[in-house]
Amino acid sequence: MSLVEDARRVRENAHAPYSKFKVGAALIAGSGKVYLGCNVENVAYPEGTCAEAGAIAAMVAGGDTSITEIAVIADSPKPVSPCGGCRQKIAEFASGDVRVTLATTDGVVHQTTVAALLPGSFDADYMSRV
Ligand code: THU
Repeated sequence: MSLVEDARRVRENAHAPYSKFKVGAALIAGSGKVYLGCNVENVAYPEGTCAEAGAIAAMVAGGDTSITEIAVIADSPKPVSPCGGCRQKIAEFASGDVRVTLATTDGVVHQTTVAALLPGSFDADYMSRV
């Protein structure tokens, strides 16, 4: 099954009673294992936790430390765009050339990369004088 199909399936489990906007994410880690995430909202913080963040949390809890590919899917008019915070979280574990597949539930797919999503990102090199 493709990573987009994994993301499509886990999206069904999203807890999004406030936005009604369900998102699914699936990633392949350095070990080859696939980790899944969906958005989880709550009454105090209705924006909740993004699907991408959920998949990354599952990956870290599973003992993996790198992302080799990631896919995100939502029922949106065009392929869903990860929020700024999620772009930084993905970049923490992925090199710039890692493929990011953004998809709609009706089959529109946009392929991009971590570097394209987060150009000029802050990294540890900026702290090399410390
Ligand atoms: N959301 C994600 O899970 N991922 C994205 O890339 C964009 C937004 C979620 C957060 C919130 O639960 C809902 O979509 C509306 O912002």
